[in-house]
Amino acid sequence: MNSGDARVTVRAPAKINLSLAVGSPRDDGYHEVVTVFHAVSLFEDVEASSADDLSVEVMTPSAGVRVEGVPVDASNLAVRAAELLADRCDVDAGVRLRITKRVPVAGGMAGGSADAAAALVACDALWRTGLSRDELRELAAELGSDVPFSLLGGTAIGTGRGEQLTPALARGGEYHWVLALSDEPLSTPAVYAECDRLRAGRPIREPDVPDGMMRALRSGDPEALGAVLRNDLQPAACSLLPDLEQVLEVGLEYGALGSVVSGSGPTVAFLVRDNEAALDLSVALAASGAAQDTVRVTGPVHGARLVEPVALER
Ligand code: C5P
Repeated sequence: MNSGDARVTVRAPAKINLSLAVGSPRDDGYHEVVTVFHAVSLFEDVEASSADDLSVEVMTPSAGVRVEGVPVDASNLAVRAAELLADRCDVDAGVRLRITKRVPVAGGMAGGSADAAAALVACDALWRTGLSRDELRELAAELGSDVPFSLLGGTAIGTGRGEQLTPALARGGEYHWVLALSDEPLSTPAVYAECDRLRAGRPIREPDVPDGMMRALRSGDPEALGAVLRNDLQPAACSLLPDLEQVLEVGLEYGALGSVVSGSGPTVAFLVRDNEAALDLSVALAASGAAQDTVRVTGPVHGARLVEPVALER
């Protein structure tokens, strides 16, 4: 193969948090968390092709239009992932990254983390650095708290600041979700700060997995899972974006089995019984005016992986 023409594409999933328990702030500015991550079928694609220098572009899936609001300089998380890998593995080559963005920007679904995880896997294949999954996971943790989960996928318990993962024992099969998107982004640090403000002066519980969560996952029963969804950041997200309360209410009124703000929000995830219920709920959310923009997804799905091993062989 002419390495000048190499190109790989990696697909990485968005996540929702089935539960997110937030402890006290740590000295390093992060909060100790215990969370149950769940990868859902909304994917970022990152194509990496050989280049002399490092560049990134971020496009919408259909019309191929540039996405606003995502940096395309060295602060882009996918670029930082490529730089980190190049640095650790003494790679001299560049890379051209092209991100196809489907996950809402600043939506609490780890879209940027998915880009970083995909860029790590893509560049590792392109540059033939051959890192193990464990080595990739260590680099991922340096890039952000949610990046290791974007690599792993499935359903997993995250501890520490979210980067230490244990796959959850869950029954096979899939859950159906309706995601209500918001066009108002929420900044993760701002939501954590609001959480601290709302809880100031009150004792903070040691974070843990909610009672019944692991049992619900082992049973595979969506009704049981719907009853235990929980997010300690939800009051803070709702405080910063009061419209979320109405979205949560309307979803439950129209038959969702459970609802939860994902991560730091503002995306709200509704669990429903099946695809038909998902369609009904999407229509109801739009008709009520509570949420115009909804996406139906299923979970769990795989973590970051190659979809197009190597192209353009000559
Ligand atoms: O790790 P990541 O870069 O995604 O975190 C973004 C910000 O979210 C952190 O700078 C911090 O303010 C907040 N955060 C936190 N505790 C966590 C994860 C994130 O306070 N466990």
